[in-house]
Amino acid sequence: MNEFNRVEVIEDGAALRLSREDGSGLRFHAIWLRDNASDPATRSPGNGQRLITIGDIPAVTRIESAVLDAAERLTVTFAPENKTVAFPLAWLATRAYDRTPAMEAGWLPATCETWDGSFAARLPRLDLAHAKRDPQALEGWLADVRRFGFAIMSGGPVESGALLEVAALFGFVRETNYGRWFEVKSEISPSNLAYTSLGLQAHTDNPYRDPVPTMQLLYCLENSAEGGESLVVDGFRAAQRLRQENPDGFALLARHCARFEYAGAADTCLRSKKPMIELGPDGELLGVRFNNRSLAAVTDVPYEEMPAYYAAYRHLAAIVDDPGMAASFKLEPGEGFLVDNTRVLHGRKGFSGSGSRWLQGCYPDKDGLLSTLAVLEGQGRRAAAE
Ligand code: FE2
Repeated sequence: MNEFNRVEVIEDGAALRLSREDGSGLRFHAIWLRDNASDPATRSPGNGQRLITIGDIPAVTRIESAVLDAAERLTVTFAPENKTVAFPLAWLATRAYDRTPAMEAGWLPATCETWDGSFAARLPRLDLAHAKRDPQALEGWLADVRRFGFAIMSGGPVESGALLEVAALFGFVRETNYGRWFEVKSEISPSNLAYTSLGLQAHTDNPYRDPVPTMQLLYCLENSAEGGESLVVDGFRAAQRLRQENPDGFALLARHCARFEYAGAADTCLRSKKPMIELGPDGELLGVRFNNRSLAAVTDVPYEEMPAYYAAYRHLAAIVDDPGMAASFKLEPGEGFLVDNTRVLHGRKGFSGSGSRWLQGCYPDKDGLLSTLAVLEGQGRRAAAE
């Protein structure tokens, strides 16, 4: 696939260019290549971690020579160190940075697919026993979580704490002031509106934390109440709709921080200052924070822009509340759903006092999930070195 058949040193040794038969190619800088050398003096053969600092590499590093060999490797000699290092061409091809990004603010990587309410007809779902015995099935389920920010795990035990069994399939749970896991039951005088029978507008959890919980697992133990369906909304789709319908509003929510706060218990006062729509420096849509219950007084928007900011917030809320955006479903006992809490909003319809509804929730972290998925996909270091 790489099919590089030619290499030339360019820019007086500051870079090289790998070319294909059709004339296309990739450029790499001397300093980048030297820093990414994988020889045992640069990276530990044991754990793959870098053994040198940027200061150990001469600032005047350049490419003395570069040759391709039959083993699909590029061998580079660096001056003034007179150091020779080989790079697998496949490794370079998958780390190419010589491209012209034509990305508009709010772009998403190819691994991410947004959805609307029609997603309800194709919710990713896996049986817990299947996930435990079949790594490929688990890999597929985790890849769905990465792609859609949502998946259901069914067929689990109907017992308190069973949600941890699901989380242990792929990662680690973050403990918070709500405990290692928390109960979502109707309560009299609840400490949090989640513990009533009221419907809840779709939201991301705990935007008042920094860092925000990256995943949430909600697991059902009882659900005999009338109503009480769960619903999820793709916050990335909502943000992209806002960008389309109201580009200035999108930019306002991305450019200015909101404030979030929770002080609903005597021993807790959590605060954060983060935007509702979070973009990376290159415009990638990284996250959405949306929670009417915990939005605090916003104080980081200039006076002149506050009315437009509120109009943008109202517009985003209207998109979130659009029934066409929500995928709804009813959890059965022994079922749980996992959402990417940096992206997907969850909520519920109201339910009646008859019957009971008892869920347990926890916050597994996404880095662990993505790590498990990458290893299952063969992207671990052992595979990369081959
Ligand atoms: Fe929630």
